[in-house]
Amino acid sequence: MTPKKPQQWLQVVGHAGSFRVGEYGTLLKRFCEGERECYLKLMGDTLRPFVPAYHGVVPLDGQDYNMMDNLLTHFSTPAVMDCKMGSRTYLENELQIARERPQPRKDMYEKMVAVDPEAPTAQERAQQAVLKTRYMQWRETLSSTTSLGFRIEGFRKANEECYTNFKRTKSRAQVTEALDNFVESNQHVMWGYLIRLKQLRQALETSDFFRRHEVVGSSLLFVHDWSGRTGVWMIDFGKTAPLPPELTVDHRTPWVEGNREDGYLWGLDNLIDTLASMLH
Ligand SMILES: Nc1ncnc2c1ncn2[C@@H]1O[C@H](COP(=O)(O)OP(=O)(O)OP(=O)(O)O)[C@@H](O)[C@H]1O
Ligand SMILES: [Mg+2]
Repeated sequence: MTPKKPQQWLQVVGHAGSFRVGEYGTLLKRFCEGERECYLKLMGDTLRPFVPAYHGVVPLDGQDYNMMDNLLTHFSTPAVMDCKMGSRTYLENELQIARERPQPRKDMYEKMVAVDPEAPTAQERAQQAVLKTRYMQWRETLSSTTSLGFRIEGFRKANEECYTNFKRTKSRAQVTEALDNFVESNQHVMWGYLIRLKQLRQALETSDFFRRHEVVGSSLLFVHDWSGRTGVWMIDFGKTAPLPPELTVDHRTPWVEGNREDGYLWGLDNLIDTLASMLH
């Protein structure tokens, strides 16, 4: 059994306050029904070795939590990176909802101009507002999400330095530089990650769960430490949606609205190629 104490856990990105450290190497994440359903199915899927073990719903201080393994438990002073997978990070359903109630948004216009004064069209400029659908789609083109099918959300190195400013990290060269910083040019660690990602790709290609879900906003969590130990796991299924029974996806076909494709495997192919090209 995992020792009860000490428990180490560090959050790289995501909503602060959603997590509590549990006993015996577990982690509690604020309850989300969709995420619970995913974890239940994943515990009986070929992807099981690539996700944290799930232990059910736990109430604490008037709030429900999904209980899962803390993936940092068997590392000492780990470096941790969160990489968001897929060629879009909003669900088709979110796009539909936003479109049914089209509201010109001034706040989103301002955010857009702050990043790129040239981005708004003449009409948007005249209105000083953009539609939410337009903003969501524009935002994805800034990072490597649309160009490579994944983006680095952030990482934390063993020395506690945190890097989270990757919203405009888009080209393969920029991503390579960031990855090299994260692994501190350690070829052994890069090999470990590469082998694990190739195993994950094989498991994804045969997974029933994966074939039947639109996997959006999900991340790969990379963990390594000074001993050279490495691990990669899939986390965050809060926005993973089951497909209608007659529909399956291959996760590589480019997305057109209605096909529900998420570009997850295309992104993983690009991530694997990028890491491979960093090895001599
Ligand atoms: N099982 C786990 N073990 C260790 N660390 C974890 C685990 N799950 C999540 N984390 C940490 O918490 C961070 C946020 O996790 P997650 O993406 O699930 O939360 P979120 O609040 O849904 O975030 P988002 O803003 O993407 O919606 C991850 O980047 C990682 O650092
Ligand atoms: Mg997340």
